[in-house]
Amino acid sequence: MTKEKAIEILEKAGQGHVMRGFDDLSAEKQEAFLAQIENINWSDFKLIGNDSNNARGEFTVPPAIELSEIAERKAEFEAVGLEAIKKGEVGAVLLAGGMGTRLGFDLPKGCYNVGQTHELFIFECLINNLMEVVNKAGAFVPLYIMTSEKNDEVTQKFFKEHNYFGYNPEYVKFFIQDMACAVDYDGKLLLEEEGRLATSPNGNGGWYASMMKAGLKGDIQARGLKWINVFAVDNVLQRIADPLFIGATILGNYVSGSKVVRKVEPAEKMGLLCLEDGKPSIVEYYEMSKEMSEAKAEDGSLLYKYGVILNYLFSVEKLDEIVDNNLVVHVVEKKIPFVNEAGEKVSPTEPNGYKFELLVLDMIHMMDNNLAFEVDRNYEFAPIKNLHGVDSVDSARELLQKNGVVL
Ligand code: UTP
Repeated sequence: MTKEKAIEILEKAGQGHVMRGFDDLSAEKQEAFLAQIENINWSDFKLIGNDSNNARGEFTVPPAIELSEIAERKAEFEAVGLEAIKKGEVGAVLLAGGMGTRLGFDLPKGCYNVGQTHELFIFECLINNLMEVVNKAGAFVPLYIMTSEKNDEVTQKFFKEHNYFGYNPEYVKFFIQDMACAVDYDGKLLLEEEGRLATSPNGNGGWYASMMKAGLKGDIQARGLKWINVFAVDNVLQRIADPLFIGATILGNYVSGSKVVRKVEPAEKMGLLCLEDGKPSIVEYYEMSKEMSEAKAEDGSLLYKYGVILNYLFSVEKLDEIVDNNLVVHVVEKKIPFVNEAGEKVSPTEPNGYKFELLVLDMIHMMDNNLAFEVDRNYEFAPIKNLHGVDSVDSARELLQKNGVVL
């Protein structure tokens, strides 16, 4: 794109301010900046103040397998799940492209040390959990790690320096997710520095499209993967490529599954798995009416009670079918560092604008069906979002210790 064209597009969009200082940039920076401008997704801007996700359908309870049934059918599920892993049909995707701003840690979140008497990094906890399955199955699970351009180098270096925490590096591949621009509350593009738009990872929903962009289709095909278990970086207790979960999904003829924990009280803040007009759908707690969050089943328990924990299983065939479909873009308020008109760097302590994000939960809605697979939160749910308080390093340490992990 030429400078003149960029000015024309920006002026038309009321964003001419970002060209300030353009002529003082080096030729290389000018080129990079013009490329950034060319890639702006202008349709996202229309969503500000009007997140398109508001018209909802009719909700019903999704198919689920609860703890009691899982205990009864454990051997059956496990045999089928282990068989799929042994045959090399199951891969895993670690979503590690987020900024982890709530934790306030300088390095990627997975590099955080939760150990107290010895080093135990979040990435290490996840690999240790996965190794239990690998040892049981006698086969490595291909692990793909999604990073962003902001943390890719450090993440890859960290894994190398720690010898992949004992995982076989031939089964580990990194790929970089896309970025999206950020705007202030008036919808004006923010600059990270003169001649560079403030951008951030575009959410966790674009993971499969980013894998395809990174050329990993060939790897998936060569390995013969039929299932991908996608999971968040921050739940240090989660089971990855869990044979029971995989076995139950395969035996039930589902094309996808979600690990869920039971919501215990109506006000609990969690996304709930439901059916919406008969299709799997996740409803965020803030989208739910009081009636819906308090609705009771015949036995007196909560009717909508399957809280998702960002651990999903997808059939590769189905992923290929939906990868080109557009995901809903969400407008999210965030703290966005920027340079002001005087050229000074500002690191806000309160949210100062919006980012545009795709969310993995919207992929669930594109699935024909989905199994809610219940897990016990005391054994499988210890997310680290904050340093202290709810979903924090403190609460995760407590749960790790309860599960016999030496810190
Ligand atoms: P969160 O919703 O906790 O976002 O991500 P975050 O950016 O990591 O943390 P905060 O909100 O700034 O504190 C849930 C999971 O999705 C991944 C995260 O790495 C985490 O595993 N994620 C999130 C991505 O991979 N890419 C993104 O763009 C956003």
